[in-house]
Amino acid sequence: MYLGKKVRLRALEMSDLDAIMAHWNTYETRRYLYSAMPHSREHEREWLERAAKQTPWEDGSLTLAIEDRDTQEFLGTVGLARISPENMHAEFGIAIHNPAQQGKGYGTDATEIILWIGFHELGLNSIHLYTMESNVRAQRAYEKAGFKRVGKIRQYMYSGGEYEDAFVMDILKSEFMERWPPGKMIAN
Ligand SMILES: CC(C)(COP(=O)(O)OP(=O)(O)OC[C@H]1O[C@@H](n2cnc3c(N)ncnc32)[C@H](O)[C@@H]1OP(=O)(O)O)[C@@H](O)C(=O)NCCC(=O)NCCS
Repeated sequence: MYLGKKVRLRALEMSDLDAIMAHWNTYETRRYLYSAMPHSREHEREWLERAAKQTPWEDGSLTLAIEDRDTQEFLGTVGLARISPENMHAEFGIAIHNPAQQGKGYGTDATEIILWIGFHELGLNSIHLYTMESNVRAQRAYEKAGFKRVGKIRQYMYSGGEYEDAFVMDILKSEFMERWPPGKMIAN
């Protein structure tokens, strides 16, 4: 388990299913994700079964639960996907499910920790992400964690009846190491 200033990242468990279903189908949150379509409990149960067993090098994915460090409340998930052993890169993704818990610093903290895991534990060289142009809160959180905006993909997402451009953001291992060299942990 990895400790940040506000959150703890830990393995997903099947017992997280109720907490996932509590807020996962909230349009306010889902509209910024790859698809805003609602997910049934059965769909999520199957996803959770797969995600809880993933290993980074065999499955190319690592998804962890985000919980409040003090209360242990389940807040959402954060992860790395498309982990490439050939190129040592991965794609970042995150969701704080309950809109009432967004904007409190949890996302920035969880982002820094998964970057720490990606660079220090997995030894990756770069981590990138795609985010909708209108998702200003996400971009701010990612910039605080060290991501830089490096490009734009036109009309990448279809949401709310229109196409929207997506920003590409990334961070290199060398940049992350300036802030978080080996031995320096995020939680004090
Ligand atoms: C994106 C997300 C992970 C960010 O996590 P978070 O906990 O909400 O973000 P944080 O509180 O750590 O940081 C948000 C920052 O954006 C700022 N912010 C919030 N709303 C904003 C807005 N509408 N416009 C500009 N800045 C905004 C906050 O003030 C904060 O910056 P500050 O610390 O300098 O004040 C979370 O909001 C989320 O899961 N959203 C829904 C799903 C989603 O968008 N996933 C990502 C898809 S790419």
